[in-house]
Amino acid sequence: MSHTQEVKSILYLDGVSVSFDGFKALNNLSLYVNEGEMRAIIGPNGAGKTTMMDVITGKTRPDEGDVIFGGNVDLTQLDEAAIANLGIGRKFQKPTVFENQSVFDNLELALAGNRRPHENLFFKLQSDQLDHINETLKQTSLAIHRNKIAGALSHGQKQWLEIGMLLMQKPDLLLVDEPVAGMTDAETATTAELLKDIAKTRSVVVVEHDMDFVKALDCRVNVLHEGSVLAEGSLENVQANEQVIEVYLGR
Ligand SMILES: Nc1ncnc2c1ncn2[C@@H]1O[C@H](COP(=O)(O)OP(=O)(O)OP(=O)(O)O)[C@@H](O)[C@H]1O
Ligand SMILES: [Mg+2]
Repeated sequence: MSHTQEVKSILYLDGVSVSFDGFKALNNLSLYVNEGEMRAIIGPNGAGKTTMMDVITGKTRPDEGDVIFGGNVDLTQLDEAAIANLGIGRKFQKPTVFENQSVFDNLELALAGNRRPHENLFFKLQSDQLDHINETLKQTSLAIHRNKIAGALSHGQKQWLEIGMLLMQKPDLLLVDEPVAGMTDAETATTAELLKDIAKTRSVVVVEHDMDFVKALDCRVNVLHEGSVLAEGSLENVQANEQVIEVYLGR
């Protein structure tokens, strides 16, 4: 393939395959995400969406194929910590905030993230770091809850807090797996706005089954099926694709 693309891709997967006991969870998957782009990934259960994120973040090693970040970094040669340090943040489905800490303290802890515990004790916020926390509180609709214990937040607010915690590391690429599962309609709409705002300054890849949410993201969509891309285009476009209707939307 050509390495001189006109639009710079922050991420490309080329011919990626992953097998689990002979079953191909990813099957010659190729996919490109541009710098600053928001991309939605949809597809039936078991299509390989989460496995794709596992491969990008180094949790799973592909049997074959290239996974290239920032034009020249081969992610298949790096471990999870090194990949995170490159600027790839990942949000898992279940929120994993520190329930007994305040919202503010959760963000502060995420900022201090890489330090050892005894260093955290003496961690003193710089003014730009405090600004970053305050901006993130506003961005995630949590400013008025800053002193609340995280365990007292709604499910949706916990998800936003965790996204905020990922933003503390200023990732260039944010991967988000099923963020709106279990959310109210209002929370879902707010989450779409939040991710669109985040995608103004970085690339975001979102996996979801909720089509109203994907529509609200208003971005390019890939349909995964049996470990490879079945269709790519606008949501309208892929929703009109007969194969897509057959394997996914028409169920
Ligand atoms: N660690 C593993 N060991 C064995 N099989 C796995 C493993 N991880 C995933 N699989 C299998 O790979 C296939 C793809 O799974 P994956 O979780 O990527 O699907 P998905 O598209 O995220 O589905 P969903 O929409 O249900 O989350 C499934 O058949 C799954 O059972
Ligand atoms: Mg999944």
